[in-house]
Amino acid sequence: MRTIDWQSDHIVIVDQTRLPHEVVTRELRTVPELVTAIRTLAVRGAPALGVAGALGVALAALSTTDPVAAAARIRAARPTAVNLAWGVDRVLAKLALGIPEAVVEAITVLEDDVRLNRTLAERGADWLTARVPGRINAHTHCNAGALACVEWGTALGVLRSLHARDRLGHVYADETRPLLQGARITTWELAEMGVEHTLVVDSAGPSVIANGLVHAVVVGADRIAANGDVVNKIGTYPLALAAARAGIPFVVAAPESTVDEATPDGSAITIEVRSEEEVTGFGGVRTAPEGTRALNYAFDVTPADLVTAIVTEDRVIEPA
Ligand code: MRU
Repeated sequence: MRTIDWQSDHIVIVDQTRLPHEVVTRELRTVPELVTAIRTLAVRGAPALGVAGALGVALAALSTTDPVAAAARIRAARPTAVNLAWGVDRVLAKLALGIPEAVVEAITVLEDDVRLNRTLAERGADWLTARVPGRINAHTHCNAGALACVEWGTALGVLRSLHARDRLGHVYADETRPLLQGARITTWELAEMGVEHTLVVDSAGPSVIANGLVHAVVVGADRIAANGDVVNKIGTYPLALAAARAGIPFVVAAPESTVDEATPDGSAITIEVRSEEEVTGFGGVRTAPEGTRALNYAFDVTPADLVTAIVTEDRVIEPA
């Protein structure tokens, strides 16, 4: 099953808010439905957002009288992952030629994602096996798996490729507060893959690394600046600090569409700040005292000098 797909005139997604308890698909037939699905993280993860942006413009062309205005609303649904704007812009550029051309371009973005992820995953596995002997234990954060893409995954794609080569050992997954992409989605994918894994709270991640339990940290990215600064889910930066201190590789796996050459460094990237309620409560029940304020950064910036390798479908960049 694909995380996101196109069916004749509408988008179909696996609703990630329902995982792991239910695997439910949803049809998105209007632009407002798509925008809500993006904002609520029913569809999430940078590559999947790129595809959502591309298919969203096709949907806008078929279902609205002003697809350019609708495309602008899709583009603005979440600010940090550059893939969303990239997907929108790629299909908008074809819209002038006609609606069929726009739909074909959107489907090309969808199909390319499958191919690119497999290529970058193999490259990442090559890079790691050339540096770490034997079975590789890895630490990952958030979900950069098949459910963050169309299929296969980026960081989890690298682990999937290592597993296929019988070179993957144990995987430690951070739960990823506050929306638990690690606890809900990454563990689900690792179990499906048949990979031995252990879930830890986010704040335990640096201790897992300091205690020598893993050989490498492998994560995805939402945007990579021209200087190699990496923006990914909040809680990634402490893992990079711990990896540098422990002397193990910190590897970022992402498609070229995540590399934003127009942004000079991480300080120029808009970090999404989500609602306070995601932090002051849990499962709809308030956990913090009434009146407590929360600052809910959704992403952080890992400076380039802490990044050992960025692996894309085309190249390996070694910023550090
Ligand atoms: O808020 P999310 O769940 O969309 O954040 C996702 C991440 O931070 C992923 O690590 C990133 O998008 C890479 S997914 C291949």
